Amino acid sequence: MTPHLTVVNHPLVQHKLTIMRDKNTSTGGFRRLLREISLLLAYEITRELDLTTTTVETPMQQMEAPTLEGKKLALISILRAGNGLMDGILELIPAARVGFVGLYRDPETLRPVQYYAKVPNQLDARMTIVVDPMLATGNSTVAAIDLLKQEGARNIRFLCLLAAPEGVARMREAHPDVPIVTAALDQGLDDHGYILPGLGDAGDRLFGTK
Ligand code: URA
Repeated sequence: MTPHLTVVNHPLVQHKLTIMRDKNTSTGGFRRLLREISLLLAYEITRELDLTTTTVETPMQQMEAPTLEGKKLALISILRAGNGLMDGILELIPAARVGFVGLYRDPETLRPVQYYAKVPNQLDARMTIVVDPMLATGNSTVAAIDLLKQEGARNIRFLCLLAAPEGVARMREAHPDVPIVTAALDQGLDDHGYILPGLGDAGDRLFGTK
């Protein structure tokens, strides 16, 4: 059975994440590292894609060789920081169908407010990977996955860079069927819903805004 939470302890992931946490890392460095880590995390999250076989002629002989089965997977970015994870994954899976869910966090209530959604069709027939670097309160992730389930998605996975225990618990309660893959499980949240020790605002660090 797929575990609800997988922390990818690979040394390269951990090393790159430490550099990303450093407040002195530049925007360019942060962006490049997020792209690189996303490739390594994508390897883990796609581990259970179904395979079938196809006939190929090698220079030596014909063989039945493994190939991905079924519809192209769907990659859903939670705007805006999700795009930083998505770019790298698309290099690995260039044929993936791509969707976006735009949610912002109301600073008072910390509740997600949806302002945009455009997702691929036939989600019921696709593995659907939702990406957002930070699983903090879990409110945005839960809201995005609610929407994707309404659109028919059944086989959903969530990929993030950092997770807080509060967000993992919220996901376990709302969407126990959605496995989470992350590079680290941090201590918890501050009063503004930021992850500690975390890395700050992922969107700001990725796009150089404040
Ligand atoms: N979103 C972020 O960008 N950072 C956090 O620490 C929490 C939510």
